[in-house]
Amino acid sequence: MTPKLKIPPPATGALPPDAQGARRPKTTRATLLDMKKHGEKIAMVTAYDFPFARLADQAGADVLLVGDSLGMVVLGFDNTLPVTLAHMLHHTQAVTRARPQAMVVADMPFMTYQVSPEEALRNAGRLVQEAGAEAVKLEGGAAIAPMVAAIARAGIPVMGHLGLTPQSVHQLGGYRVQGRGADAAARLQSDARALKDAGCFAIVLEAVPAALAREVTAVLEVPTIGIGAGKFCDGQVLVLHDLLGLFAEFVPRFVKQYADLGAAARTALQAYVTDVRSGRFPGDEHTYS
Ligand code: KIV
Repeated sequence: MTPKLKIPPPATGALPPDAQGARRPKTTRATLLDMKKHGEKIAMVTAYDFPFARLADQAGADVLLVGDSLGMVVLGFDNTLPVTLAHMLHHTQAVTRARPQAMVVADMPFMTYQVSPEEALRNAGRLVQEAGAEAVKLEGGAAIAPMVAAIARAGIPVMGHLGLTPQSVHQLGGYRVQGRGADAAARLQSDARALKDAGCFAIVLEAVPAALAREVTAVLEVPTIGIGAGKFCDGQVLVLHDLLGLFAEFVPRFVKQYADLGAAARTALQAYVTDVRSGRFPGDEHTYS
């Protein structure tokens, strides 16, 4: 039997240190607005479970996104469409159990917010009440402004998501760059304005030309968080499994891989299997007398 790992909870009132070892306060909507105002870049990363939420928080990430990308990188679906509210509740609960200083944003999965503002609000409320999310993220532009407004009016911070919106993959005809050409660029700009006016406190821009992301970032009062949207956004987000080298099925051009944990894990597992087969494990030091 695998021994149970004992991870001591932080002492009451104690803050986990960031990468520099300094203690930092809880990130809120106001913190992110302030960071934009002062030109400080926002670092957001996805997290889907307790151990990686802890690690990303200790590394100093400002925002942990429980993305519906979990459908692909954790649950093995072909896209994000099969992800349900039950999946999101389960994984958001695991992330918030890490009690991060980073803000926890939960994605609202496909068909949990498109039908009506009432349904959107009820489902957003469940992510906050049952899973401890501190904000929710919705994909889409002006068409979902009534849903954003209903959720924001109830006191739940809402993050928008424009450009390549993976829940619309069939309508978009694949995972392609969005906002190219004058009409598409103008549409994205007016969608960003509509989301801000409806109450979004930040907007993810995915797979859009850097020049367009720069323009949107310059005129918008709330932070933009880019993924494949160039360096002029107020912040950046990457999928955890992409940046750690844990998801090899499909690596978009915009991903920077900071580690190859997939290879490291495979090597470690091979060594374990070899040790078991050869009788090298367990040794005396792993054995009770
Ligand atoms: O689901 C997700 O991980 C996301 C990010 C790619 C922004 O929406």
